[in-house]
Amino acid sequence: MTGKAKRRVYLDYSATTPVDSRVLEAMMPYFQQAFGNPSSAHQFGKAAQQAVEQARQTLAQLLRCRESEIVFTSGGTESDNLAVRGVAYANRAKGNHIITSQVEHAAVLKTCRLLEKDGFAVTYVPVDEYGMVDPDTIRQAIRKETILISIIHANNEVGTINPIAEIGALAQERGIYFHTDAVQSFGKVPIDVEAMNIHLLSISSHKIYGPKGVGALYVRRGIPLHSLLTGGGHEMGKRAGTHNVPGIVGLARAAAVMIEEMDQERQRIGALREYFWQQIQKRMEPVYLNGHPRQRLYHNLNLSFPGCDGEALLMALDMYGVAVSTGSACQSGSAEPSHVLKALGIGRERGTSALRFTLGRLTTREDIDYVLTVLEQVVAQQRQIHRHRS
Ligand SMILES: Cc1ncc(COP(=O)(O)O)c(C=O)c1O
Repeated sequence: MTGKAKRRVYLDYSATTPVDSRVLEAMMPYFQQAFGNPSSAHQFGKAAQQAVEQARQTLAQLLRCRESEIVFTSGGTESDNLAVRGVAYANRAKGNHIITSQVEHAAVLKTCRLLEKDGFAVTYVPVDEYGMVDPDTIRQAIRKETILISIIHANNEVGTINPIAEIGALAQERGIYFHTDAVQSFGKVPIDVEAMNIHLLSISSHKIYGPKGVGALYVRRGIPLHSLLTGGGHEMGKRAGTHNVPGIVGLARAAAVMIEEMDQERQRIGALREYFWQQIQKRMEPVYLNGHPRQRLYHNLNLSFPGCDGEALLMALDMYGVAVSTGSACQSGSAEPSHVLKALGIGRERGTSALRFTLGRLTTREDIDYVLTVLEQVVAQQRQIHRHRS
């Protein structure tokens, strides 16, 4: 342990999660014993192929879809790229307009920006002060050329959960494909792709206690999709490349455990998060909650501490062994408030004093009590320095 750490507490579960031992155990045989290439015709290949198909079946059951509608990918980023780019290029003859929101993950946002350079028109709908998309703004943005609506299910920074069933119904009614990035919500919020009229849905294994570098995209049957990678005919021609067999097995096991324990974890972690938030309000006022007060992921607490600098708080907490994030992990290092906080209308002072705490499977009450003590101290220190300077 480094610095002043008496304990190590990880509160950055939205950035990534440790691999659950049940997941690791399920993966192990596929590194050395059943190491075959699923595309090979011999027994080694068949055993690997069986594992991939078993994983596909598990995921299909959990999402309530057909096995042929699951495409394995290298993670959330690739799933988002495949959904947005894949639908855009395959449906170009039908139209060139895409609707997304201002608070998407970079995997969707940057993909849309690139598509704009390639002749597509993109509408980035705004969100309300809580980071929520209003289905009416989407309704108003629809044109006759609209081919795709891509809206994040639960935001990775502020945890706000969007009304995707309503957006799905709207898309269905207007004959437009609907993609949702469920990387943060899958396993935490119930999802039924048929009932919610979702046509494409991205998930990532490392956010749900599975290994890194593997994910999946649900693609409803019959949706024309342009493949991004050229190569073999893997994944029904939708995604070329030899399967990451241990990863895929791990993803399916991780997803099954998430769903099995969803209710129990929502209660346990939700209660811990509530205790944490109550104590922070009592001991560290003034403090602001960013994101929706109720329609938010149960493990997320995104807070602004006026008089503090988020980056400096993060570093100070790290010295005490406490791992948190400022906004999204990909953006730490930048001094500007994140694009998400800006889209919520949060100003510079509140935006740059924001910290994201995300609790998880290994978080205990003792961890939270330790973090409260340390946080109270570093927030007070920073506010004192700030007062002296101004
Ligand atoms: C909402 C969201 N979408 C996509 C991604 C990218 O997933 P991956 O890390 O598996 O590429 C992330 C990861 O931070 C995310 O939070």
